Amino acid sequence: MKTKLCPPDSANIDECAAAIKAGGLVAFPTETVYGLGTNALLEEKVGQIFAAKGRPADNPLIVHIGSVRQLKKAAVDIPDRAYRLLRSPLMPGPLTLVLKKAPAIPYIVTGGLDTVAVRIPKNAIAKRLLTKADVPVCAPSANKSAAPSPTTAAHVLADLDGSIEYILDGGPCEIGLESTVLDLTVDPPCILREGGTPRSAIESVIGRVGVSCDTAAAAAASAPKSPGAKYKHYAPRAAVYTAEPDERAEVGRFYDRETAAGKRCVILSMTETPEGPRAEWPVGKTAADYAKRLFAYFRRADEAGYDVIIAVKPPHNADDVSEAVINRLNKAAVGRV
Ligand code: TXA
Ligand code: MG
Repeated sequence: MKTKLCPPDSANIDECAAAIKAGGLVAFPTETVYGLGTNALLEEKVGQIFAAKGRPADNPLIVHIGSVRQLKKAAVDIPDRAYRLLRSPLMPGPLTLVLKKAPAIPYIVTGGLDTVAVRIPKNAIAKRLLTKADVPVCAPSANKSAAPSPTTAAHVLADLDGSIEYILDGGPCEIGLESTVLDLTVDPPCILREGGTPRSAIESVIGRVGVSCDTAAAAAASAPKSPGAKYKHYAPRAAVYTAEPDERAEVGRFYDRETAAGKRCVILSMTETPEGPRAEWPVGKTAADYAKRLFAYFRRADEAGYDVIIAVKPPHNADDVSEAVINRLNKAAVGRV
């Protein structure tokens, strides 16, 4: 199959919307990462997404809709908390709600679950595409399974060229990591995946929410766990080692030791390492800057042939995306400095 890379003009958006409706595979920008979408109602077409990504069948897909008007096509028994979030400034945006599945959504989309994850992206291109397609669109991130999520059209092309029909090129994604996944079928609601919407923002609308044991917030609340191979995910080929924000000296020593052993190393950090000529890529001054660059840097390090990425975590703050950045770093890491 020839993959068509398209600028997001209205003729191309119309063509892509028609392709999605017919069950074709279209990669499109959202404010978080690029998604790989097709018509969620066409059971036999949804399988192509799992095949193109190499994704396990029991990992459910997020259903994307253009506006709240389409919500009832995807979900039923929608709780009041969902409407409070939908009316809040958080939505549309990087927040995915797990709700009770509507009968029309096939089980292949939800990995056999009776719940469905629903998201309304804020990105204008995604919104026009979804509104035009006028069907629920299931879309995982448009990367090969286990690779870092794509934040540019070039990343999508690198992973999926030849196995999908279209890529709408909307430039680099604004947030750079995936949406927060919030389960509203349990009480209190529970964050299943930290992401672009901070926990405190959600709590300001619906009150206290829980966090699943797989999140950075849960790890911070209990003993910090060393990320084992079973959490490896979102990972570049290079070995990722993490450091706490105050471990600058340890970072320098680790870098020098690995370099002496013949490894090519690069440091990702919000502040400069004090001494020594070391390869260091600035991730910006805020957790939001870090989020925007993280996956692109993972891919760049692999392209440039680095063996080791030393990532200094952002300071933990429940009010920003630091929890999501820390979660992705923990999942990608093979160890600590
Ligand atoms: O920002 C995003 O969420 C991006 C863009 C494209 O929208 N999408 C994305 O999709 O990250 P994906 O497939 O890479 O991740 C979907 C996450 C997975 O962790 C999956 O297990 C979870 O959502 N999920 C989907 N349906 C679920 C359900 N019914 N119950 C619990 N978790 C669910
Ligand atoms: Mg993904």
